[in-house]
Amino acid sequence: MRKPLIAGNWKMNLLRDSSVALIHQLLDKSKASDKVEVAVCPPSVYLHDVGAALRGSHIALGAQNMYHTDEGAYTGEVSGKMLKDIGCRYVILGHSERRQLMGETDTQVNQKVHAALKVGLVPIVCVGETLDQREAGQTTTVVRTQCEGSLAGLTSEQAAGIVLAYEPVWAIGTGKTASPAQAEEVHADIRALLTKMFGADTAQKVRIQYGGSVKADNAKELLSQPNIDGALVGGASLKADSFLPIIDAAG
Ligand code: 13P
Repeated sequence: MRKPLIAGNWKMNLLRDSSVALIHQLLDKSKASDKVEVAVCPPSVYLHDVGAALRGSHIALGAQNMYHTDEGAYTGEVSGKMLKDIGCRYVILGHSERRQLMGETDTQVNQKVHAALKVGLVPIVCVGETLDQREAGQTTTVVRTQCEGSLAGLTSEQAAGIVLAYEPVWAIGTGKTASPAQAEEVHADIRALLTKMFGADTAQKVRIQYGGSVKADNAKELLSQPNIDGALVGGASLKADSFLPIIDAAG
């Protein structure tokens, strides 16, 4: 059975004191569970402080991006080796904001996925269509192309350990969530593609999160879909009162 992963993507929000305070609130009000895994992904400058607050707890640390080589003359970039060194377990790769605002391509995401796996990080690979693409009936093609490009060259063993996140761009930060049926349709199609790429055993092991306006009041129904294995949560992960009920809904 796949254990759901609820991960908070803080994006470029919160300062150091509020980040650490949020961790203390989350740790005060939640405990380790066999039924759900939890992670938070703060901005890279606060990974150290958040990691220190989390140390020894049931909540894992994740980063929001990385560069694909271990070291060198890449001003402003952070490597997977550094993220691992500072205690990260996860790294979000290919988030739609990076694809749209920074022009990240599937090829670049793919390089990062390989580099993350090489240093022992678990990549959370994001895919998802825009509203125009959905309305043009291109959802399946867009999502399949992103998955194929981002996961190219992985062995089945490597693929089994990654996490995918289906995040329809039109649902991110808009308050518009994909309906459970809409989300499940895409998740099931991604799993069918994974079966084709890596075999049925591997495809059954890959966790596929849903992301896009996940809130306390819609989490339970989304997470009860057979192919939805957790959530990648933006806005609602910035406060304990809104993040904890989502964790509870998975557990
Ligand atoms: P929201 O939950 O704010 O819609 O953000 C989703 C997201 O982009 C998580 O990566």
